[in-house]
Amino acid sequence: MNKLKNKVAVITGGNSGIGFGIAQEFKNEGAKGVIVGRNQETLDSAVAQLGDNFIGMSADVTNLADLERVFKETSEKFGKVDVIVANAGGGAVGTVATLGEAEYDKTMDLNLKSVYFTVQKALPYINDGGSIVLIGSNAAHRAYTNFTLYGAAKAAVIFFAKAFSSDLLERKIRVNVITPGTTDTPAFEKFVPLEQIEAIKTHFASEMPIGRIGQPSDIGKTAVFLASDDSSFMLGAELLVDGGMTYLSK
Ligand SMILES: NC(=O)c1ccc[n+]([C@@H]2O[C@H](COP(=O)([O-])OP(=O)(O)OC[C@H]3O[C@@H](n4cnc5c(N)ncnc54)[C@H](OP(=O)(O)O)[C@@H]3O)[C@@H](O)[C@H]2O)c1
Repeated sequence: MNKLKNKVAVITGGNSGIGFGIAQEFKNEGAKGVIVGRNQETLDSAVAQLGDNFIGMSADVTNLADLERVFKETSEKFGKVDVIVANAGGGAVGTVATLGEAEYDKTMDLNLKSVYFTVQKALPYINDGGSIVLIGSNAAHRAYTNFTLYGAAKAAVIFFAKAFSSDLLERKIRVNVITPGTTDTPAFEKFVPLEQIEAIKTHFASEMPIGRIGQPSDIGKTAVFLASDDSSFMLGAELLVDGGMTYLSK
């Protein structure tokens, strides 16, 4: 219950899906802090469920001034920053034959630039000895159809966990990355017509070696581990949390 007692966390994309699952597990372990997103309605409803120890901040993770404001205001409000979770992301779906420059820039900005600058803008505020958790994707490891740009961006996020850990050795800030497989989140609604969502989830579940798709809490519990002292010997590491999808499925 107290693995993150009094730790102050900033979770980007904490108003939906995996980010909200992480925020809930952090709250269960005694953390407090900030969830970041652009949609005020889902920020408000997420904060209402998380309770008094969390606040929402409206910000765009691809905008450097917004990121600076998030960490400055978090530090002013909570007095410190211990944990960063760079989770906000998502992807344009298509192939090298179909995705053009606009989709390229958008996908790289949201999944890669955002991670680089979330970490850079946090550095003046995060404590020495803090923990940074990046959210990648198993799409980095296999060429799933239509995930060309997204998979490439997430592969680079896995590299960032190693490079940032090396960059921040002197400050003893550990950076690790979680690579989820298919997880049950509102992201489905962005790609699949509403009436087909349940059928698609059932289909994905039938193809998963473990027999189900992931839940945000699966990723949340892993993030608690990486954020807490239980993982104090881990830095630059990747935890694949995918129900066996990447290496065991046909
Ligand atoms: N679901 C999966 O199967 C799966 C698998 C592997 C990896 N992932 C990764 O897990 C992470 C979370 O995905 P999810 O499935 O939970 O998706 P989701 O439910 O659609 O949530 C995405 C979150 O990112 C935020 N976000 C998007 N663009 C933003 C921006 N420009 N500025 C600030 N916040 C922004 C959204 O908030 P606003 O809309 O309010 O901005 C939302 O909170 C992503 O990095 C995704 O690539 C997901």
